[in-house]
Amino acid sequence: MPFPSGVVPQLRLACSMRIIRPRLPQRSAFPGHHYRDLPERDDQASVNAVRLHGYEDGEKHREGQQMSVIDLRSDTVTLPSPAMREAMYRAELGDDVMGEDPTVNRLEALAAEVAGKEAGLLVVSGTMGNLVSVLTHCRRGDEAIVGDRSHLFNCEAGGASALGGVVFHPVPTYSFGELDLGALSGAIRPAATNLHYAPPGVICLENTHNRCGGTILPPAYLRAVRDLADRVGIPLHLDGSRIFNAAVALRCEVRELTCYADSVQFCLSKGLAAPVGSLVCGQADFIARARRVRKMIGGGMRQAGVIAAAGIVALTTMVERLAEDHHNARVLAEGLAEFPGMQLDLETVQTNIVLFGPARPDPAKPSFAQLLAEEGVKIGDLGGGRFRAVTHYGISPADIQRALGIMRRVWRQIFSIG
Ligand SMILES: Cc1ncc(COP(=O)(O)O)c(C=O)c1O
Repeated sequence: MPFPSGVVPQLRLACSMRIIRPRLPQRSAFPGHHYRDLPERDDQASVNAVRLHGYEDGEKHREGQQMSVIDLRSDTVTLPSPAMREAMYRAELGDDVMGEDPTVNRLEALAAEVAGKEAGLLVVSGTMGNLVSVLTHCRRGDEAIVGDRSHLFNCEAGGASALGGVVFHPVPTYSFGELDLGALSGAIRPAATNLHYAPPGVICLENTHNRCGGTILPPAYLRAVRDLADRVGIPLHLDGSRIFNAAVALRCEVRELTCYADSVQFCLSKGLAAPVGSLVCGQADFIARARRVRKMIGGGMRQAGVIAAAGIVALTTMVERLAEDHHNARVLAEGLAEFPGMQLDLETVQTNIVLFGPARPDPAKPSFAQLLAEEGVKIGDLGGGRFRAVTHYGISPADIQRALGIMRRVWRQIFSIG
């Protein structure tokens, strides 16, 4: 059954009016944190230059700009900003497994504050954050109820099953990333009174939704799933790898989206451009248990302040600029949508991801992604004639125009139309 009483379509319309042409928010997303070191255009260009030459140098920098590859495969390809490198160099360190790394402790406290939770836990990746969360919520034999298009179910090597004996129970996903509420409700089975069922252990949502094209789960939907979770007494975990993109697009605080979840995992190393790290946030007792699980799977780190220092810069300086990525994605999508024979749903372009492909894919034609890469533009090939372009730190409006020009030329070459 779709979302009740047409709430999502209405919200979608209201949200899309705000999402479609994002402006830079006027206020700090985190009261008390100032956006110092907001990257200048030069900083962004130096990212491209460093990508090519491995160091920052005026001459090489200009050279790098001319030659640079425009890498739109993912927002994970971002390199740390100069401010991050500086912070990593200067980080105050200690042994984090003993709880003595002051920089990690600061990052975890900051993350908890941002997410509106009691405590935070630094982990190495989004995958580890989701794994630790699911293993903390579930016992062996419990079910994790997940979207059939979720990253957790499709792209994390089945870790919760392999390592924790957790059973994945996938339910259908709508095109904006919502799980069908009727199916969700039906997936929560009465194991207490029926021996045949594995007990439900956790419901997992993803916001923004990667495979749906960076689409946003709005607060009304999150609230509806929260209500369901409360009715059946099951915790709700949020894979918020790109939750900052959602918050910036909706112009709300992250905590206005995370308040519905018992636990949230968000990534520092995607749009926020830090080199490594994700945070799991939740209530203090949950995080204490999650800390033990992290240790058990080998995720206890020692002088992890080197990583955390970049994370603090990411959280305090790299959030508002996500609006630039959203704007760039919008421009790219609108340009691509005009290519003849293109299939691209502009409604799903709500943040920094653009999904597209030929309306009539033909496996006999040369690969669009491969030919583009030869021309210096990298995109993701999702298979089946679908492609993905992701905007991020280091990609400028000029890069988007250059990429569009090359894409148009290669598109014509392959599809010989227009
Ligand atoms: C929605 C989502 N969840 C989790 C992950 C995993 O993050 P990581 O690559 O840091 O393990 C990703 C990575 O792209 C993702 O898009």
